[in-house]
Amino acid sequence: MALKIAEIVNADTEGRAYGRPPAISDEELVRVGPGTKGGELLRRYWQPFALSEEATSQPKHVDILGERLVLFRNGHGEAGLLYPRCMHRGTDLIYGKVEQGGLRCCYHGWQFDPQGRCLEIPTEKNENLRNKVRQPWYPIVEKFGLLFTYMGPEDCEPGFPSFSIEDDLGASERIVSYRSDTGPNGPFPKVAAAGDYNWFQMYDNWMDPFHVCVLHYTINGPQFSPSLGIIPEVKFEKTDDGVISIQKRRPSEGPVQQRISQVIMPNMNCTAGVSDDDLGSAGIGWTVPSDDTHYTLFGLMRVDTDLKKTPFSVDIPMLDDHWGPTHGKPFSQWSLEDHQQWQTDYVAQKGQGDISLHSEEHLMAGDKGTALSRRCFREQAEKVVNGEHPVGAEPGKSYRVEILAGNALLDEKTGACIAGIASRT
Ligand code: FES
Ligand SMILES: [Fe+2]
Repeated sequence: MALKIAEIVNADTEGRAYGRPPAISDEELVRVGPGTKGGELLRRYWQPFALSEEATSQPKHVDILGERLVLFRNGHGEAGLLYPRCMHRGTDLIYGKVEQGGLRCCYHGWQFDPQGRCLEIPTEKNENLRNKVRQPWYPIVEKFGLLFTYMGPEDCEPGFPSFSIEDDLGASERIVSYRSDTGPNGPFPKVAAAGDYNWFQMYDNWMDPFHVCVLHYTINGPQFSPSLGIIPEVKFEKTDDGVISIQKRRPSEGPVQQRISQVIMPNMNCTAGVSDDDLGSAGIGWTVPSDDTHYTLFGLMRVDTDLKKTPFSVDIPMLDDHWGPTHGKPFSQWSLEDHQQWQTDYVAQKGQGDISLHSEEHLMAGDKGTALSRRCFREQAEKVVNGEHPVGAEPGKSYRVEILAGNALLDEKTGACIAGIASRT
């Protein structure tokens, strides 16, 4: 009898793994280097790449959009971002010495200021020679404790944007910036991960509200506040510069919990807090590719210092109850078995591969937000190819980045907002 079942099962010829089509990545989404379609779009915007405090008199390498650069801060306090191969004979400027005016190459002592101007060639008597050379450089804007750079064509450089998060700051409020190399769930130290896979796998996630009630709840118990475990009704809408998801969760009693999440082209996101009492507006974040297989998250949050609430001070007590075999271990020491017992965004996204294979995907209705945000990204990238300016990146003009995301409570009968931030209901 058992043999017969085996025969029947094996008689089904559909869907076998043998002979499946070759799997490929979506190159438009995943490549970030110079000359790639996505990379050229990302280069049309000011991108955060380091905390202010990372620019010091000790040069350091930074990888941004597939380019390795060297960051330093000269004696006048000005940060510089240079191509690292010295234009004289190619020594890496990481070994240089920072002086008052700039960074001096260790080999023959050419000194470059933050804009790549050569200030001195110690072995040349002719002063004019140094004016004929320029070390390749990128401009920097330093704001909110972050360093931003623009890596696109100079005649397309937009003004530095303004952000609605800056509006009407109260006396006790301030904007706090952060950098996280730890990827999704990273702010919570016990589940810190790494951004060691393609940036678009992270970016897809910002417009994927349905994974929250599965990965973060039913798979291994609640990782965020209880209300987020309810399967939401979701409406996705295109905005002028991206996509929002309007999520409504209806508890058995009490007000409707509304959560609006947002992506802004090409790589920004606005994601509200994950605790039930966090009814404020969202902060703003950037998923910045370091190269094709690494990224870093940067962000800004509005903090009321009187409340002594820092961006990542949210207490999530349920984490301890589900700590299981990983208890006390730093993330880097988790075994495969630990990851199989306590899954995070990290394994879900890293599990897609270092660079996902999009030809094998089967997107369903629940993936509408992800599909919309990819479409937006492609449309803007196509504009660049056609010689147009992508949204929010008009040369010389400052774009206003409007945060629509936030958490709110809605009256269950009338749908009216009774607490929190609701740019839409
Ligand atoms: S290689 Fe840098 S000064 Fe000669
Ligand atoms: Fe997640």
